[in-house]
Amino acid sequence: MKNFTSVKDVQNINTLVEKALSLKENPFQTKLAEGKRIGLIFFNPSLRTRLSSQVAAQNLGAQAIVLDIGKDGWALEFEDGVVMNGDKAEHIKEAAAVMGRYFDVLGVRTFPELKSKEADYSEKLLNAFIKYAGVPIVSLESGTRHPLQSLADLITIKEQWTATRKPKVVLTWAPHVKALPQAVPNSFAEWMGKAEVDFSIANPEGYDLAEEFRQGISVFHNQEAALKGADFVYVKNWSSYDDYGQILSQDESWTFGSKQLKLTDNAKVMHCLPVRRGLVIKDEILDGPNAIHLEQAENRVYAAQAVFHELLMPQI
Ligand code: CP
Repeated sequence: MKNFTSVKDVQNINTLVEKALSLKENPFQTKLAEGKRIGLIFFNPSLRTRLSSQVAAQNLGAQAIVLDIGKDGWALEFEDGVVMNGDKAEHIKEAAAVMGRYFDVLGVRTFPELKSKEADYSEKLLNAFIKYAGVPIVSLESGTRHPLQSLADLITIKEQWTATRKPKVVLTWAPHVKALPQAVPNSFAEWMGKAEVDFSIANPEGYDLAEEFRQGISVFHNQEAALKGADFVYVKNWSSYDDYGQILSQDESWTFGSKQLKLTDNAKVMHCLPVRRGLVIKDEILDGPNAIHLEQAENRVYAAQAVFHELLMPQI
């Protein structure tokens, strides 16, 4: 594995999940990354990604250094060939290359602006790091994907599912007051497409994900129909892709509560966090026995540890 920015970077997702589960059993089994440095570069806020990546690096014996570049760094220029006489003090060519000299692996978080579909889906910033840093790049959530979250989600499903048949996994939209990116649902759909699960998506009309992320997947515009017999339900809000970045409805009948859970096969309920209680998922679910959001959050450590281990392995 050269970089970790989507499921396409992973040769075998089952092997990666097994590695993560083995690291969970014994987090300190390998300190082989001692002396290695991982840079964690945040253009946007984070709780889980930031802390779980730091813990993961420490478990491997590596040092993690965080830069809140969105707050503390120079304003970056991304255009080629411009005369930098505006408010941008540093070009991404130098910034990424310098960070590449300091670190063995670089993690980058860069949210979409949700103004231009073309700009966000071109992943300009993430691709600039890949082009100029000269070291492996890990997406800590980008414009279109959140692969460390999806890996942790898959680890959690594998841990929870003991039956021999494929689990029925449903990703359902839920209302929100803010326009949120499509990165988590896109990424989850992409990983579920490669996993041994029976996967479908439920969202209101107007909220279909980009075609590349829902190819071959059943999409329901009726939540009730989609939830029937589900073993896992992933609840998440996202803004419209077609009417890019817009909130088209805040239909509270999609908020996940006991009424929805009753339609499932006593499903485990998932969310990547942070979650707005009462709006996205009701307290009765988050405080009940079916919620596994904390298990997902815990598994973020072992997802990151497995990925850092893979990326540092060739150098060790
Ligand atoms: N799920 C997730 O990525 O959480 P943070 O935004 O807090 O890192």
